[in-house]
Amino acid sequence: MEKLRFGVIGIGNMGTSHATCLAKGEIRGAELTAICDVNPERLQTVRSKLGEHIHTYTDPEAMFDSGEIDAVLIATIHYTHPSLAILAFEKGLHVLIEKPAGVFTKNVRQMNDAAARSGKVYGIMYNQRSNPLYQKLRDLVVSGELGEIRRTNWIITSWYRSQSYYDSADWRATWSGEGGGVLLNQAPHQLDLWQWAIGGLMPSRIRAFCAFGKWRNIEVEDDVTAYVEYPNGATGLFVTSTGEAPGTNRLEVSGDRGKVVIENEQLTFYRLRVPESQFNREYQGGFGRPECWEIPIPVEKGPDKPHQVIMQNFTDAVLKGAPLLAPGEDGILGLTLSNAMYLSTWTDNWVDLPLDEDLFYDLLQERIRHSKFKQE
Ligand SMILES: NC(=O)c1ccc[n+]([C@@H]2O[C@H](COP(=O)([O-])OP(=O)(O)OC[C@H]3O[C@@H](n4cnc5c(N)ncnc54)[C@H](O)[C@@H]3O)[C@@H](O)[C@H]2O)c1
Repeated sequence: MEKLRFGVIGIGNMGTSHATCLAKGEIRGAELTAICDVNPERLQTVRSKLGEHIHTYTDPEAMFDSGEIDAVLIATIHYTHPSLAILAFEKGLHVLIEKPAGVFTKNVRQMNDAAARSGKVYGIMYNQRSNPLYQKLRDLVVSGELGEIRRTNWIITSWYRSQSYYDSADWRATWSGEGGGVLLNQAPHQLDLWQWAIGGLMPSRIRAFCAFGKWRNIEVEDDVTAYVEYPNGATGLFVTSTGEAPGTNRLEVSGDRGKVVIENEQLTFYRLRVPESQFNREYQGGFGRPECWEIPIPVEKGPDKPHQVIMQNFTDAVLKGAPLLAPGEDGILGLTLSNAMYLSTWTDNWVDLPLDEDLFYDLLQERIRHSKFKQE
């Protein structure tokens, strides 16, 4: 295959942006041949801008069967990602999905199984994995430079959204239309990086406090504080909100050999000259503490167009066998964390991982039944 022919499905805000960059030839080795949306007017408007040679479909299956595409980029609303991806895999297509992978892990597990059966390339648009700050943190953790993890702390309250944002579409911030709030729409990037950047370490249990409609007139959560425990005894805190201004974006990871802080686009390594555990073993002087060097780690500026990094990498994976920066299978990890945070809040209790996916599904269905937005 010389060129990977893409079809984009869901031509809204994000899908239009992805389709435009493919149509402009900004991804080497890829081209846009088809677009699909349930809204025909939307399709015509976008086609008139991108070129009349682009095929349009209102039915996803017809696009999958057309023979005009090799890969599909799914940029529809969250609930539909797994079912569309499963169908695409069954039709023999490579699949790149938008985040979040879906709304509930049970469904995403089925998507992962379908991907494995198909043998096709499967990616997820975790564009923030292209940020060198988080890549460097991952490097420091995986290489052992930071030592065994002791604590993670992420305050990510810079996702400010006003009431007018929530009022801009009736499916937004409803259980039935979107399936969640800040954990599902804005923070999935951080929920992914929170475990990816520390070498894939997942908590063993979670206690969370989600506040539903605390700052805005919405039925889902707009404020969350979650405490987690890891299998090695480390602990972590994740705080997010859409109602706070000015917000904070600060990630702190402590290990046996020091502490890394990422804030204001900078990464600082507070490096202990000897690991804390060794210092504690050897030191006999009472009130002393380990010598610490504050080191600003030089990190390249992040890419101007991070989504394109993922699309280029996905294309290279199909055409040249390049390793994926964000494999689709990883989507279930961040979603497990958010599902567990809801479940802990709803049951007012600890949630152990692996998650009780059936219980989460049942409790989500209850909320969907009482949701003010009704799916057609
Ligand atoms: N990676 C990122 O940085 C990023 C940024 C924004 C949005 N997103 C994700 O992209 C997805 C879309 O978000 P958006 O803001 O573009 O939403 P949007 O509402 O602007 O667009 C969604 C489009 O999908 C179409 N659609 C819905 N169901 C469909 C179906 N079954 N078949 C065909 N078309 C269908 C709608 O008509 C609409 O045009 C979401 O999952 C969102 O989380 C990702």
